[in-house]
Amino acid sequence: MKNTTTPFYDPLLSYEDNYQQGPFGDFAVSPNTITKMNKPSRFLDLDVDLPFGIPAGPLLNANYVKAALAYGFDLCVYKTVRTKAHKSHPLPNVLSIHPKGHLSHHVDTVLADTNYQQPVSITNSFGVPSFNPDIWQADLADAVNAAKKGQYVIGSFQGTPGNEATIEKDYALAARLINETHAPILEANLSCPNEGVHKLLCFDFDKVERVAKEIKNAVPDKPLFLKLAYFANDNDVMPLIKKLKGVVDGFSTINTLSASPIDKNGHPALGQDRPTGGVCGDAIRWAGLDMVKRLVRLREELDAAFAIIGVGGVSSVAHYQEYMTAGADAVMSATGAMWNPQLAFDIKHNLNQ
Ligand SMILES: Cc1cc2nc3c(=O)[nH]c(=O)nc-3n(C[C@H](O)[C@H](O)[C@H](O)COP(=O)(O)O)c2cc1C
Repeated sequence: MKNTTTPFYDPLLSYEDNYQQGPFGDFAVSPNTITKMNKPSRFLDLDVDLPFGIPAGPLLNANYVKAALAYGFDLCVYKTVRTKAHKSHPLPNVLSIHPKGHLSHHVDTVLADTNYQQPVSITNSFGVPSFNPDIWQADLADAVNAAKKGQYVIGSFQGTPGNEATIEKDYALAARLINETHAPILEANLSCPNEGVHKLLCFDFDKVERVAKEIKNAVPDKPLFLKLAYFANDNDVMPLIKKLKGVVDGFSTINTLSASPIDKNGHPALGQDRPTGGVCGDAIRWAGLDMVKRLVRLREELDAAFAIIGVGGVSSVAHYQEYMTAGADAVMSATGAMWNPQLAFDIKHNLNQ
């Protein structure tokens, strides 16, 4: 294990302070040199320099997105927004976790602390904070504008239970608001671990179908991705993929695996009221790869044409290649990129040789 570089999101600061003061480390300054691909790729029907980027979460606002674009992350997802302001959970939001061996998908108990070491695995627990649309719409539009040729900013959103409209209508409203910013691709988050481990929206297939159709009605002409959690078997997710054939343009997967982080005294490390948190980073790469392979098989079996964004535990060139070989159309890294802002350049440099 080796020590890490300064992450562009500071886990010791509150979400609000990161929003105001970040990004940190390399992302706070312009890159010294820029590496571009000798030969660009295709993603959907778009030219992209490299189909690699940062998924929803670590890029809190336009300042973060601009830094990520400058550092060669060509697919940047702006942090998931809502139709109304929603506060972040208090600290801690990000803790390092140290699973013994393989982290399972059965809500393992894991030791959590602030000792961030490579290969980094973390639990993140924010509760999907959002500003009001009047703030995030202008900021997202600014981020979208910063994309250069071969780069794209993706707008991630989720509906909120308890808003005046049904959850389906609230997702559709969020999609419309994102569309107004001219973000070229939409992503609906259906797998937030902090909304309850067993009641993730993506496990309610009828509701997902209604949500997806409502979004497509609201914004028919933009590619729509759904962010999915881990499903352990092909048969578990097959009915969902069947329902969505021809409705959505792709899936982004995985979000996180849920775990119970505890401190060295055995107490819930995120606080008594947050016994579980989503785990991301190195410990979940097996699950992201498993899901990508599952979706590739189902795509073939159902003769479907959706795109797959592979997410989970990517922190090296080899990991990127593993996902692409598994059949992903694009790959993204959250934790890996946070602790290695040079990751996209590393991959480009290596692939160019
Ligand atoms: C700090 C942080 C915040 C996140 N917030 C969101 C979010 O708002 N919406 C979402 O769909 N996923 C969110 N995620 C999950 C990531 O998009 C990704 O699916 C997950 O971290 C697995 O990728 P990784 O192993 O590369 O970190 C977040 C992840 C991190 C690390």
